[in-house]
Amino acid sequence: MRAKESPDCIPRIIRSYRPDGPFRVFPPRFLRKLYGKWRLDPRTPHPWVFDAEAMCHFRQEGVSRLFALLRPASRCRVLSLGEGNGAPSRLLAKLYGCRVTGVDVSPLQTANARGCAALHGVERLVDYVRQDLHDLDLGRRRFDRLYDNESAVHWRDKEAILVRALRHLKPGALAGFNEWLLGDQGDLDAAWSRFPDFRRMWARGIWFQVSLRGFCGILERAGFKVLQAEELTDEVDQVSRRRLAVLERLRGILDEGSRLGIPYFQAMIKTHGRYLRYGRIIARAP
Ligand SMILES: C[S@@+](CC[C@H](N)C(=O)[O-])C[C@H]1O[C@@H](n2cnc3c(N)ncnc32)[C@H](O)[C@@H]1O
Repeated sequence: MRAKESPDCIPRIIRSYRPDGPFRVFPPRFLRKLYGKWRLDPRTPHPWVFDAEAMCHFRQEGVSRLFALLRPASRCRVLSLGEGNGAPSRLLAKLYGCRVTGVDVSPLQTANARGCAALHGVERLVDYVRQDLHDLDLGRRRFDRLYDNESAVHWRDKEAILVRALRHLKPGALAGFNEWLLGDQGDLDAAWSRFPDFRRMWARGIWFQVSLRGFCGILERAGFKVLQAEELTDEVDQVSRRRLAVLERLRGILDEGSRLGIPYFQAMIKTHGRYLRYGRIIARAP
C-alpha cells in the first residue's frame, strides 16, 4: 500500500467539505433567504445562482462547456461522480432536461443537494446516492452519459472507480471530466507545506493528482477510449482571477459566507501551474 492510500482519507475528504470549510457548503434555507434578498429565481440557469452555490474552479462557463461536449438529449440518463452539493447537475437538468444520478460520499453534501433540488424545482430530474465511489454499486441502473466535475482529484484508485462506473454505462456512452491535475513542481500536498494560508484551508493527504496524460492512460486502462484531452490551466486561472476580482469589489456588501471566497481564491491561485493544473477529457465507453 502506498503511503497516501491510508484508509482515513475518506473521513478527511468528508471533513474538507463542511459548512465552514474552504469549499463552502451553504444549506438550502440560507440560499432561499439569499435569493429572496437578491430577487433571483433559483429555478433559472442564471449564473449568479451557480456562483452562489458552487465554488468550483471551472465556474458555470467551464461546466457548461463540458456538458455541451457531452451532447446530452433530454431522454439521457446521466451519472455524476462526486456530486457534491449538486450545482452542476442542477444546471444540467435545467439546460437539457435530462435525468441525473449523483453519487457522493459526504452525507452533508448529499443532504444539501436534495434540499437544493427542491429549491431549484428539479427534484423530479435528480436523485442522489451516498456511496464511496471505490465501492460504487448502482444495481441494474445504466446511463447514457457520465461526468465528473473536480472530484477525481480525491480518488485514490481512479482506475478501480472508472472500471466500476463503466459497468453502469450503456455501450458507446460519452464520459466527460473537468479535472484538477498534477502541477509542474508537485501536488497540493507540496503546496500545503509551502503556503500557510493553503494549510489553514485544506487537510493533507486528500489529493491524488495525476498529469493529463496520466489521466488519459488511466481511462484507457479502465476500458474507455479517449476522444479529446485539453490542458486548461491558463483558462481556469483567468476565470479564477476574474471571480476573485468580482468578490473583492463586492467585499463591502457580501455576506460572511460569500466573503470566504476571497481568501479561498487568493490561496488557490498561488498554486496554479506549480502545484495544480487543470484539464478536460472526453472519452467513450466501448
Ligand atoms: C470539489 S467537490 C466537487 C463537487 C461537484 N462535482 C461540483 O463540481 O460542485 C468534490 C466532491 O467529491 C466527493 N468525493 C471525493 N472522493 C469521493 C469518493 N471516493 N466517493 C464519493 N465522493 C467523493 C467529495 O465528497 C466532494 O463532494
